[in-house]
Amino acid sequence: MSRWQGLEQEYFMRTVERLPLILVRGKGARVWDEDGREYLDFIAGWAVNSLGHCHPAIVGAVTEQVRTLIQVSNQFYTIPQVQLAELLVQNSCLDKVFLCNSGAEANEGAVKLARRYGKHHLNGAFEVITTTGSFHGRTLGMVAATGQPKFQQPYIPLPAGFVNVEYNNIEVIKAATRPQTCAVMLEPVQGEGGVNLPDDNYLAQVRAWCDETGILLILDEIQTGIGRIGTLFAYEQYGVEPDIMTLAKGLASGLPIGAIMAKDGASVFTPGEHGSTFGGNPVTCAAGYATVKFVIDNDIPGNARRVGEYLMAGLKDLSQKHPVVTDVRGRGLLAAIEFSCDIAKSLVMACLERGLLVNQLKPNALRFMPPLTIGNKEVDEALGILDKALKSSLR
Ligand SMILES: Cc1ncc(COP(=O)(O)O)c(C=O)c1O
Repeated sequence: MSRWQGLEQEYFMRTVERLPLILVRGKGARVWDEDGREYLDFIAGWAVNSLGHCHPAIVGAVTEQVRTLIQVSNQFYTIPQVQLAELLVQNSCLDKVFLCNSGAEANEGAVKLARRYGKHHLNGAFEVITTTGSFHGRTLGMVAATGQPKFQQPYIPLPAGFVNVEYNNIEVIKAATRPQTCAVMLEPVQGEGGVNLPDDNYLAQVRAWCDETGILLILDEIQTGIGRIGTLFAYEQYGVEPDIMTLAKGLASGLPIGAIMAKDGASVFTPGEHGSTFGGNPVTCAAGYATVKFVIDNDIPGNARRVGEYLMAGLKDLSQKHPVVTDVRGRGLLAAIEFSCDIAKSLVMACLERGLLVNQLKPNALRFMPPLTIGNKEVDEALGILDKALKSSLR
């Protein structure tokens, strides 16, 4: 065990099973450990480093901003947050933005906003319908929203006001809608829950139900947004518009940020009803603005779509070669491969030894979420390593 691993054990709370790797540097789709070993990074900070590691556009924007103004209170106007808000609004179907620091915080705020809407327009309705297999974050409220018992069990009793129903089933949403329901909250494609794609008409059916009943549709695009699945926002691919949308992860290509966006009609907060000390911080907003601008100006969603198709085709080829592969699924640069037995952990280690970082999604599944700037060459390299890792793990 290295000195750093020992110190971590001594001083850090154990909330995550770490991989035995101390990463010290990153550039593009590559990271390096303290011994100088290079790795191709198909985890990208859990779908965060949209433009790869230390992209010049981000480094330039952050460096300039750090030299100029790091933090003031939100009682004052600051330019980077207004620039980021304008860019997001001009390139989405939403009208207003609130900026915060993480995905869970964005979702908490979205639920608070929906409750305020319920107070104003739905006779005090407060309950939010979410789906099984979802993941909305680690705060108590978002653990209650997240439809996965393993995240909920340790913290019972959970905050009231959430109902978890089956994903991809409009009838259960209809059945769960009551006078106290103010919103349905969904990930367009479930990320942590397994890279689960919605049936073709599911989101449109949910949208229609929300329109019919007057409740809000909240889309959690924390993992799917900012180009990851091949369009700037996932809702574009499903022909629906949310009333509220949340963003985080890839929004600032590595700096901690979250955003709530809402249509004018749903944007009902009044001064004092919500807030954040660091939300909208000039440095993170400079990174967010640089990220979104680069993503739009360089058609990064198009790259994610094309390279994502290439990745899916390559994973399908691998599944032909290795009968242990039972499923390949995904969209854009969010993909998963599932196996008939629990080999994901040994595959993660076998890939790591060969210079590739991949994420264990489940005991029997891996997830791929590389930087959105990669090309087919990196995909070939990753698939070559995965092929070898599969051979070695199954020997
Ligand atoms: C869809 C989705 N929502 C919310 C979150 C929580 O985001 P954060 O970890 O930034 O709080 C995640 C994180 O994985 C996510 O994938």
